[in-house]
Formats: sequence, structure tokens, C-alpha cells
Amino acid sequence: MPTPDDMKGSPARPRRALARRNVSILSPLRYPGGKKRLAGYIAAAIRLNGLRPKLFVEPFAGGASVALQLLNDGLVERIALGEKDPLLASFWKTVFNDHEWLIRALRDTEPTLANWDRFKHGPHRDDRRRALACIFLNRTSFSGIIAPGAGPVGGRAQTSRYTLGCRYSVETLTRRIEQAAALSGRVLFVNHGDWRHTLRRVKARKFETGEVLYYFDPPFYYKADKLYRFYFDGAEHRRLHDALGGLGQPWLLSYDAARPIIEMYAENGIGPKRVELLYSAANSEKPAETHELIVTSLPKLPGSRRLWRTADEWKSARRF
Ligand SMILES: C[S@@+](CC[C@H](N)C(=O)[O-])C[C@H]1O[C@@H](n2cnc3c(N)ncnc32)[C@H](O)[C@@H]1O
Repeated sequence: MPTPDDMKGSPARPRRALARRNVSILSPLRYPGGKKRLAGYIAAAIRLNGLRPKLFVEPFAGGASVALQLLNDGLVERIALGEKDPLLASFWKTVFNDHEWLIRALRDTEPTLANWDRFKHGPHRDDRRRALACIFLNRTSFSGIIAPGAGPVGGRAQTSRYTLGCRYSVETLTRRIEQAAALSGRVLFVNHGDWRHTLRRVKARKFETGEVLYYFDPPFYYKADKLYRFYFDGAEHRRLHDALGGLGQPWLLSYDAARPIIEMYAENGIGPKRVELLYSAANSEKPAETHELIVTSLPKLPGSRRLWRTADEWKSARRF
């Protein structure tokens, strides 16, 4: 968790990365665009604003890494997840309601190309089969992508050093599924549906203002069609922007730092908000920076804007 130094962000001090110390829970999914690295930053924002959310809502759940971490750390009382992709929605429903079946099914399913084809093309008749297809395809497809264009790890020929089963460790997946399932008593719901439907379900619960914190991580502006089975067109990005003004609860949004999105949120149409660019220097030899756009209605954001350490910083951190 961030130290007070991370919060100050004073230019006179070297800024420290918001490194993920005490990593205690990992999503079973290696999801493209997964935001595990943002969990520490969002935890710091929750503390900094003195929030004690009764409900943390992720209407674009994907791998749900932020919600799981905050729930596990006790920073939020309960979570609600929403997701339009039926494979993912069924996966989370099954993890929280039926995980023993899923673990048994994983053990009985070999990482073979025949199984990959079967899961890729369906049909998937119920939550259980969709959940199994989701985790199987996620762990055996290139970069965890379950969208139509992504092929199996190692290709059809399976001649590469990395073969189909290299990320399909039943032991590791069992552990991660069990860790997530242990939190199920504090999962209000998993909604299979569009983000607006998840918002309606939360609003129907009549929480007081300030009791809910929304975290939106919508499909990227660029290249989302290569990563996800469901994604936005330009009008949908705008509709999400317009909806934020009427939420009546605090919210936080993350995006790829695409210029049209930065410009849209820099306009002052949805009331008071802060726009922040987070960056990482991937490593010292190759200082390519990755930017993440953060927009929020919260009055304060952590001072540190670094999410990762450089390779050199990790080495020197280990010395102490
Ligand atoms: C950037 S990913 C979320 C990643 C997630 N935060 C994580 O850490 O793994 C966006 C997700 O939004 C989902 N999605 C796309 N269109 C949607 C919609 N209209 N309503 C709800 N979810 C949608 C996609 O299927 C994808 O899983």
C-alpha cells in the first residue's frame, strides 16, 4: 500500500512508484487490459478521500482484479460486478456460487487443441459450461484474448517454446478460484448485462449518497475489437461520458490515453472532475511510457503518478 510519501507527490522528493506491496489476491483470469496495477492507486484514492464504500461497483468487470483486491483488503464492504460478455459473467457467477464444480471441471479438462476448438466455437449451454469455456480459452489463448481473432498459445502447429498448456496450471488456478470464492459472502451480485443495466440494479437498492463507489474501466478506445468480444463505438463512449454526471455517487474511470477520450473528458460538461495521466517507464533500457487516463469525481487523487517501478528501481528496492 502507498506510504504517506506516495501521497504527497512533492516535486522536491523523488516520487516513488505506487508499487503493489502485500499482493494477496490474483484474478484467475489474465485479462487483456486488466487493471491489477491500478488497485494500489485506487486504494490510496479511497483512503485519501476518507471513503468507506458499502458497495464498490465494476460495471465492466473483465478480470475484476481491482474489485477483488479492494474487497480482500477490506477497503470496501461489498462488491457488485457487471459484464456484457456472457462467458465472463458466467465465469464470475460460477466462481462465487459453484466454484467446486468449476475446479473439478478444470481438473478433467486437458489443454488440447481439440478442447480449444470445442470451447472456441461453442455452443455453451449454461453458466457452468460458459464459465469453463471462459477460463479455458483465457488461459490457453494468445495474451488471454477470448475475442474471435485470437488463436491458441503456441499456434495450430504447437511448435513454439510456449505450448497450449503453459499457462494452464490447474493447481494455480484452483488456488486463485478458491481465494476469490472465499469472498463470495460479500458479493452483492454479478450482473450479466450492459453497464446501464448494472447501474439500474445498483440504483434500485437505494443507497445513500457516498455509500457507493463506481469504478468504470470501459473497453479501450483503440483496438478494443481485437481484445474483447464486446466493445464500444464512438457514440457509446460519449453516452458513458454523459451518464457520469447523473450518477449521484462518487466515481472513478480509467481509459487508454486516447486523444479523443482525453478531449472529451477535458470538456466541462459533467460537473466537477479531475483528469490525471498515470505513466510507467517499462524498464531503464527501454524507457517507453505507458499512459493510463484517470478521470474521477473524487476531490483528491494520490500525488504519485507512477504505477510501476523501473527494473533498476526494483533492484535497488530489493537491496534495502
Ligand atoms: C477494459 S475491459 C475491463 C478490464 C477489467 N477492469 C480488468 O481489470 O480485468 C472492458 C470490459 O468491458 C466489457 N464490455 C464491453 N461492452 C460492454 C457493455 N456495453 N457493458 C458492460 N460491459 C461491457 C468487455 O467485455 C470487457 O470485459
